[in-house]
Amino acid sequence: MTNVMIKVGDESAESYIGALKHVDPSLNILEWPNYGNPDEIDVAMVWKLPHGELRKFPNLKLVISMAAGVDHVLSDPHYPKDIPLVRVTDPHMARSMAHWFIMNILQLHRETAYYNSLRLKKIWASDKAFDTDSICVGIMGLGYLGVHLATMLSNIGLRVQGWSRTSKKLEGIRSFTGDDGLAEMLKATNYLACLLPDTPATKGILDRSLFEKMPKGSFLLNAGRGNQLVEKDLTMALDNGQIKGAALDVFIEEPLPQNHPFWNDHRIIITPHHAAEVFMPSAAKAFVENIERVRSGQPLKGLVNQKVGY
Ligand code: NAP
Ligand code: GLV
Repeated sequence: MTNVMIKVGDESAESYIGALKHVDPSLNILEWPNYGNPDEIDVAMVWKLPHGELRKFPNLKLVISMAAGVDHVLSDPHYPKDIPLVRVTDPHMARSMAHWFIMNILQLHRETAYYNSLRLKKIWASDKAFDTDSICVGIMGLGYLGVHLATMLSNIGLRVQGWSRTSKKLEGIRSFTGDDGLAEMLKATNYLACLLPDTPATKGILDRSLFEKMPKGSFLLNAGRGNQLVEKDLTMALDNGQIKGAALDVFIEEPLPQNHPFWNDHRIIITPHHAAEVFMPSAAKAFVENIERVRSGQPLKGLVNQKVGY
C-alpha cells in the first residue's frame, strides 16, 4: 500500500482525495496535519505546505507539486533535495491558461472596459475598426504552457514569438534566447505574455528597462508569478504611456491587499490567481501515474530540474 500525505493550501483536500481514490482506490491518503506516523509516508502531494514539513518524512520517495509552479516547494530551505519532485503538466490546464491570455489580449485590444463604460451611458459608438494584424504577442517562457499558448494564439490568426532559456523549433513562431534575443523580441512585441517560472533568474524581470524595450503603448499580461513584476515600475509605465494596459493574475502579495493601488487602477485587469487551476478529473490520472512510476522505478513525468529551479 502507498501512503500519501496531502495538503492543498488552505482548502480542504476532500474532493482531491475523492478524485485520486476514484483512479486508484488502493491509495491511503491522509490530509496534513493528521498524517499519522511520518515514517510511513511514501508520497507528499502539496500546494503551499508550510516550510520545514517535508523533512519530517524520512522515507519519502516522491513529492508532487499540485501546481505547475514549484516555487512553493523549492523556496523551502529545508526541502530534501534528493527526493524527486514532479509537477502538473496537464492539457486541461494548458488550454485554460491559453484561454486566459486570449480573453485578455482581445479585451485589451478591443477596449472592452471603454465600451462597457459607454454601454452604461447607453451610447452606441460604432465608428472604430480594430486592426487585428497589428497584434504581435511575445511570450516569455515557451515551456509546457507557453507552447500551448503560442499554438492557440497562432491558430486564431495572431502573430506570435517566444523567448526561453533554450531555443525552440515551432512552426510559424520565432524563438529567441538570451538577453539580446529578449531585447530583439521585445522590439516587435506589443502584447507581452509572461509565463515564466519563479526562479532567481526571473525575479523582477518585468521592470522599467524591459518595458522601455517595447514599442510605446504596449500591453503587459502576467500569469507567471507576482515576483516577476516590479509593481511600481508598471504604475510608472502606465502613467507615462509606455504601457497602455495590463492584465495580471499573479501578485507579489496574494490575496492582493485591500489597500493595494492596483485595485483602483482601471488600466489593469485583475484576476485572483486563477488563470489556470488544477482540474482534478484530468490531473488525478497523471498524479496516480507518477505514484505508480515511482513504485515501479520507471521515469517520472513532469520531473523538475531542481538545479535550474523549474
Ligand atoms: P515550464 O514548462 O517549466 O516552462 C518554463 C519556461 O520558462 C521554459 O520555456 C523555460 O525555458 C523558460 N525559462 C525559465 N527560466 C528562464 C530564464 N531565466 N530565461 C528564459 N526563459 C526561461 O513551466 P510551465 O508549465 O509552462 O509553467 C510556467 C509557469 O506558469 C509556472 O512556473 C507557474 O509559475 C505559472 N503558472 C501560473 C498559473 C496561474 O494560474 N496563474 C497556473 C499554472 C502555472 P526552457 O524551455 O528553455 O527550459
Ligand atoms: C498555479 O499557479 C500553478 O503554478 O499551477
